Amino acid sequence: MATLLIKGGRVIDPSQTRDGAADVLIEEGHIAAVDTAIPVNGARVLDVSGKIVAPGLVDLHTHLRQPGREDKETIETGCRAARRGGFTTICAMPNTTPAMDQRGIVDFVHQEAERLGLVSVRTIGAITKGRQGRELTDFSELFDAGCIALSDDGNPVADGFLMRRALEYAKVFDRPLIQHAEDPALVAGGVMHEGLVSTTLGLRGIPSEAESIMVARDIALAELTGGWVHVAHLSSAQSVELIRQAKRRGVHVTCEVTPHHLALTHEAVGEFDTRAKVNPPLRTEKDRASLVEGLRDGTIDCIATDHAPHTDWEKEADFDAAPFGISGLETALAVCVEALITTKVLTWSQLIEKLATAPARIADLRAGTLAVGASADLVVIDPSAHWTVEPQRFVSKGRHSPFAGRVVTGAVERVCYRGVESEP
Ligand code: DOR
Repeated sequence: MATLLIKGGRVIDPSQTRDGAADVLIEEGHIAAVDTAIPVNGARVLDVSGKIVAPGLVDLHTHLRQPGREDKETIETGCRAARRGGFTTICAMPNTTPAMDQRGIVDFVHQEAERLGLVSVRTIGAITKGRQGRELTDFSELFDAGCIALSDDGNPVADGFLMRRALEYAKVFDRPLIQHAEDPALVAGGVMHEGLVSTTLGLRGIPSEAESIMVARDIALAELTGGWVHVAHLSSAQSVELIRQAKRRGVHVTCEVTPHHLALTHEAVGEFDTRAKVNPPLRTEKDRASLVEGLRDGTIDCIATDHAPHTDWEKEADFDAAPFGISGLETALAVCVEALITTKVLTWSQLIEKLATAPARIADLRAGTLAVGASADLVVIDPSAHWTVEPQRFVSKGRHSPFAGRVVTGAVERVCYRGVESEP
């Protein structure tokens, strides 16, 4: 493999507290050196002056749909979408058909991803068999197969006794349970946030308490068991405050927020726009501002996409009938730039920390870093490039985005995975 020298960029690597002009030398698929003015010495040179060079982004929350719903997404299209978005590691959620609740399915996903070689795909196994919320899976088998965490995402583990036992069991492996925090009884068939917009549209609402009550319960169970709860896709101000307090008490709880919850409110539903139908729902400006503040003050550990592709025919149904979820991988970075950098909430270094370093830490992966010796997984970003979100041009099979038509800032220019560098 030829030596590659990525020259003249602004290298941002929060794992090494580095932010400044530097070159990156890649040899045999690994980072060989990061320094100022590395001599060329016969290497192929990629000139990236004016660009940011950062560790490849890491997504803790991707729905790949394969096996079972290849009409929505395949491992291949999902990996290509990840690359487009600057992600070199994605963690696949278990709500496939069948669910990722045993070794055979986990092995299949890993092997297919390895065959493709586009990005690193890690897996999140199911907490309960078939994600039915009744019987625990074999945690030992799933962690042994390489799962980085377990979750019933798409569904909560609603039964408190089962969640207690699951936390005790997962504690043995020092790995988190990722909770899709919602109380099904309070969701009660709701399709969007319960508030002024749902009332105006005559749609059944989901109160914020459907989430925060479950967050409060899981914090209590993490406290009781000493286990680790990671709360997925936080959406409400109450949840942020509960986690802030719990962290102060030393409870082992971490959490993530999606780009769309940072950027949008329930107003985005407009006139029954299913492209803004997500679960948990987009909520009020107060909630959105609390999520931004939670991210800034460290209450929220990282950003995760909840990339949830669906077919056109499903998403173009009535608001009530359409599935929850949007295609998120290809817009995540630019949406975060708009919500967090342009508004001066975070610096670039802090944003890369939230999109790469922190999720890698939670997943316990040697990713999200440009440390010498690490796999050469990195992204070159043009921080000032403007582009228009055109979902019909997504490489994901999911072509639905509430950001369609928006002119955004920040483009992924090149992606390098295991030392192989190309256009995204
Ligand atoms: O919007 C969502 N879509 N939220 C989830 O929790 C599940 C996901 C999906 O799988 O479609």
